[in-house]
Amino acid sequence: MTRELTIGEISARSGVSQSALRFYERQGLIAARRTDGNQRRYPSATLRRVALVQAGKAAGIPLERIREALATLPDGKQPTKRDWARLSAEWRAELDERIATLEAVRDRLTSCIGCGCLSLKTCRLLNPDDEAASLGGGAHYLRRVSPRGRGLAQRAR
Ligand code: FES
Repeated sequence: MTRELTIGEISARSGVSQSALRFYERQGLIAARRTDGNQRRYPSATLRRVALVQAGKAAGIPLERIREALATLPDGKQPTKRDWARLSAEWRAELDERIATLEAVRDRLTSCIGCGCLSLKTCRLLNPDDEAASLGGGAHYLRRVSPRGRGLAQRAR
């Protein structure tokens, strides 16, 4: 029979508060059986699952994605090193995408510092797909700054 732990033991060993553990349980991230006295008993593999949740949270992975990943693990058994490698590989693509988005926002923010227009129509931070914004600040439809700007101005009419 696998060893079972109380919520207090899981909390002490994982460093996660009991209220957070109860929240994880309500969210379907971990599961416990109830004793006759209605106390929670967790399989020892729960410690590894809690560690996975903590790692996912630290990486900014949404709880829903963490739940999906945990659902692929065998119930009541310790996730293996191989399981962790598979999950982290899946999350890596998501992290790369998030990093690319943050870099793009950072770069747009940098170009906006000193501009300050915050125009909902042309700000590269607020309206990144606006074609005229890619030409820089200013009224490009009124000025003829480049063949591309001229093309945009003509299309805007
Ligand atoms: S503040 Fe973003 S383009 Fe002006």
